[in-house]
Amino acid sequence: MQKLIVKGRNRISGTVKISGSKNATLPILAASILSNKKIEINNIPIVKDVITMSELLKHIGSNIKVNIKKKKILILNKKKFLKTVAPYSLLKTMRAGVIILGPLLSKFGRATVSLPGGCAIGTRPVDIHLFGLKKLGAKIKIKNGYIIAEAKKGLNGTTVKLPSISVGATENIIIAASYAKGVTYINNCACEPEIKNLTDFLKKMGIKIFWTGKRKIKIIGNQKLRSVKHSVMFDRIEAGTFMIAGALSGKKLKIINLESKILKKELLVLKKMGVKLKIKKNEITVLNSKNIKPASIVTEPYPGFPTDLQAQIMVLMIKARGISKIKENIFENRFMHVPELNRMGGKIKVSGNLSTIHGPQELNGAEVMATDLRASVSLVLAGLVANNRTVINRVYHLDRGYENLEKKLRKCNANISRLNY
Ligand code: UD1
Repeated sequence: MQKLIVKGRNRISGTVKISGSKNATLPILAASILSNKKIEINNIPIVKDVITMSELLKHIGSNIKVNIKKKKILILNKKKFLKTVAPYSLLKTMRAGVIILGPLLSKFGRATVSLPGGCAIGTRPVDIHLFGLKKLGAKIKIKNGYIIAEAKKGLNGTTVKLPSISVGATENIIIAASYAKGVTYINNCACEPEIKNLTDFLKKMGIKIFWTGKRKIKIIGNQKLRSVKHSVMFDRIEAGTFMIAGALSGKKLKIINLESKILKKELLVLKKMGVKLKIKKNEITVLNSKNIKPASIVTEPYPGFPTDLQAQIMVLMIKARGISKIKENIFENRFMHVPELNRMGGKIKVSGNLSTIHGPQELNGAEVMATDLRASVSLVLAGLVANNRTVINRVYHLDRGYENLEKKLRKCNANISRLNY
């Protein structure tokens, strides 16, 4: 086991380069199942979830090579995969693994994928994924904790109106429809930038995909695919996390390798909170920001404020002068960082999906426990501004999705280290 030690109150400054997006890489890797042509994916983040997804692909017979040094993945699949079964052992740590269901089913006419089960931030069912695949013609049953799906003659294009917005279900259905016969219309889909990155990848592979409205896609399925070279978009959650780090304890923090226009909502919230920002097309500089103001935010699907940045912005709210409020609209149990932040001196009350943050409060280092990926980084942020030493246990959550977090922070003068115990 490992833990992080943060000695607080070092002002951070310098330049941070944002890595490729984990949430864009995972569906692109799943979509690679459709093709037998050469695939080159660049700018992948070297994080645990990406490694787990490549292990999952290897397990089912994909010929995938991860070049850690060059942050590149090469895939050249044989016509026949060895297996169409994704076991629980590979899905239990990474729920996103369920997005291989659509491509396996569409390409091979069958798939058996473990139900990912619950996770700390909520029950996270997969009913919307299954609803969409059934519409495309799949027969699905659940047995012994596995989703067993079949479409002997392949999937057929149709109109799928999603009952509610889901990122993963949208991705699963887009990939499945890309290899289905005929035309599929998906309405009420998620429109996260990572999904656009996936549709760009599929377009390069030869699928005709059109965004016909904000939450509407038209897909003309195609089984003759081309080889493709694609670069994964930047990680907008990592970018947001560093903007908040800069607002909390920065002298002058330049964040590069991003697209500011994708971060509109986050930038609006930070500006309203009084954070001083210099915004260019591909870089954002956070300047020394005093007098942070409170805010009220609601987490929503894109283009709303991301749930994946909720725990981090809460730390900035602890430092704001006045009462802030957060309504968590996406996951039912995503305030697990609150007791830990309160142990460090935060004054946060939770009632259902609403939290009220009374600021400003002085934070004091403590031994705390990371409970999920984004909660763990919020504890790092709190540690950066706290007095004395913060010890963060269960860092494996952080390693699922942040590439070189400590290295990047250390380069900016933060005092952070990792201990084996
Ligand atoms: C993705 C992101 C995750 C982010 C989330 C919301 C990846 C790998 N993960 O997760 O970081 O926090 O989007 O932006 O991209 N739901 C159902 N039934 C379903 C599917 C979802 O009820 O079949 C519910 C979920 O429980 C949740 C909501 O819909 O309450 C949104 O979940 P969804 O958008 O599917 O999140 P993920 O794709 O799992």
